[in-house]
Amino acid sequence: MSRVYLNGEYLPKDGATISVDDRGFLLSDGLYEVTPAYRGRLFRMEQHMRRLQHGLAVLRIEYDLSGLPEMHDRLISDNGLEAEDVAIVYLQITRGVAQRTHHFPPAGTRPTVYAFAQAFHRPGEARWARGYEAITVPDRRWARVDIKSIGLLPNVLAQQAAVDAGVEDALFVKDGVALEGSHNNVFAVLDGVVTTHPATHAILHGISREYVIELARAQGLPVEERPVLLDEMRGADEIFFTGTTTEVRPTVRLDGEPVGNGKVGPVARALYEAFKEGTRAAAVAS
Ligand code: PDD
Repeated sequence: MSRVYLNGEYLPKDGATISVDDRGFLLSDGLYEVTPAYRGRLFRMEQHMRRLQHGLAVLRIEYDLSGLPEMHDRLISDNGLEAEDVAIVYLQITRGVAQRTHHFPPAGTRPTVYAFAQAFHRPGEARWARGYEAITVPDRRWARVDIKSIGLLPNVLAQQAAVDAGVEDALFVKDGVALEGSHNNVFAVLDGVVTTHPATHAILHGISREYVIELARAQGLPVEERPVLLDEMRGADEIFFTGTTTEVRPTVRLDGEPVGNGKVGPVARALYEAFKEGTRAAAVAS
């Protein structure tokens, strides 16, 4: 059985329980992070912690993050994941356990901190090379989706719509703009320019998104961060999603229509190869 972390303790998952008064359970009053580890080495942990720190500050949840890297490392080793090509650590911090009120609980209420680690299985090369499909869904989320809130109901419904449609990804669209996926960011290649929505309040500032932008620039590809209209997306040479549990995933059909020539394009291919190589190198170097 996997071992998890809960409020300072490392426990078998079966032994980890939380109160029904937890504000995460009652009110979705909390945040989460998902950090990848390549061959047991956490990748871009500082960036993940910076994003978490920002979210905690906005929500005014007080928690000292300094012990989290060590805790993540321990979960990876306690679960025998050091040799996995890719593993992920899921971390959740809620405002803690208190009698239900909409306003904050009394000062001194301790946040609930829970984490688990598990292997992540990359798709095989042949599967990836066939490409993936996506549908568009209206974005009815709140106005601060840069905060990695555990309140994910619109994301759940969007991803279920994708599953119901027999496709892999759901693309949120608001006011004609293609923003991001239900659990990943989105890029379009438009006349050779690698284009993605700017890191505003309207998208999550994906750590993979940032990394892929760096990889594209390092390859000399032009990159532009600007809102992309859905109409432009539909005419893109290529579309791909990025994320911790997505890496780089090319979309060959959007709403049933082929993207570009309907095949995985060279930019997605080059960036996926660079992504795999970069994370492999980081695992060896650190
Ligand atoms: N999802 N956009 C949304 C809405 C997300 O939920 C995520 C991550 C991303 C990509 O962020 P990153 O590159 O830092 O993983 C973009 C995580 C993996 C999840 O919900 O499981």
